[in-house]
Amino acid sequence: MAQPARGPFPCARHGLRRKCPPFASRVRRSLAATRLDPLGLAGWRVCLVNLGLVFANRAADDSTTMNDLRIREGQHEDCDSVLALWRLAGVRPSVTDTPERLRLFIEKSGGLLLVAEAAGQRVGTLLGGWDQWRGHIYRLAVHPDYRRRGIARALVGEIERRLRDRGAARIYALTYTEDGAAFWASLPYERTSDTAFVRTFR
Ligand SMILES: CC(C)(COP(=O)(O)OP(=O)(O)OC[C@H]1O[C@@H](n2cnc3c(N)ncnc32)[C@H](O)[C@@H]1OP(=O)(O)O)[C@@H](O)C(=O)NCCC(=O)NCCS
Repeated sequence: MAQPARGPFPCARHGLRRKCPPFASRVRRSLAATRLDPLGLAGWRVCLVNLGLVFANRAADDSTTMNDLRIREGQHEDCDSVLALWRLAGVRPSVTDTPERLRLFIEKSGGLLLVAEAAGQRVGTLLGGWDQWRGHIYRLAVHPDYRRRGIARALVGEIERRLRDRGAARIYALTYTEDGAAFWASLPYERTSDTAFVRTFR
């Protein structure tokens, strides 16, 4: 049986971004306005309007920087949505992509299917593997509308924690896409010269 879902996780721990430049520049402009016209009403009006926009901007930024991101363990009822998300994300289809196999994985892996949720939607997934020797990461996929917001990084951070808890000293991640290669290169993962050989039983 899968363990109970965990989360939400603090965004800072996963390096989720805040988009700050408008905030900094508006504060600068507000202060500049009062310096130009220190006693006049006009300067202070500009200052107050700018500060109002600062807070409005900060509220808007919060909604676009995934503050509501939750990483949790996948459950049986996630299977169909996870398979659909893989197809939508463009993950290469495999003979292993069936609801039955995914259900078995959830039961046997003890919490190594992770699902990222934002705005009530499943927006990312990842499978972790632990064979008592190495850790593995498979099926990392993020919904196309939610990319470049740190979701994959958050998923990897959480699976690394779980694999290390099981004793992993090394984690292997396979990718065959340009996005995937760029993503792994952005983390402290080294490209290996290993050649992968695969046998498929049908
Ligand atoms: C690869 C993938 C999982 C990345 O997900 P993501 O949530 O967008 O990644 P993140 O936002 O966590 O990216 C973290 C960093 O990785 C790098 N990165 C991610 N995608 C990138 C891209 N397409 N091009 C260049 N760099 C990229 C960047 O350095 C990024 O940080 P930045 O946005 O601050 O510059 C996503 O593009 C995807 O699902 N692709 C299709 C499936 C796939 O290729 N899976 C790979 C494993 S099989």
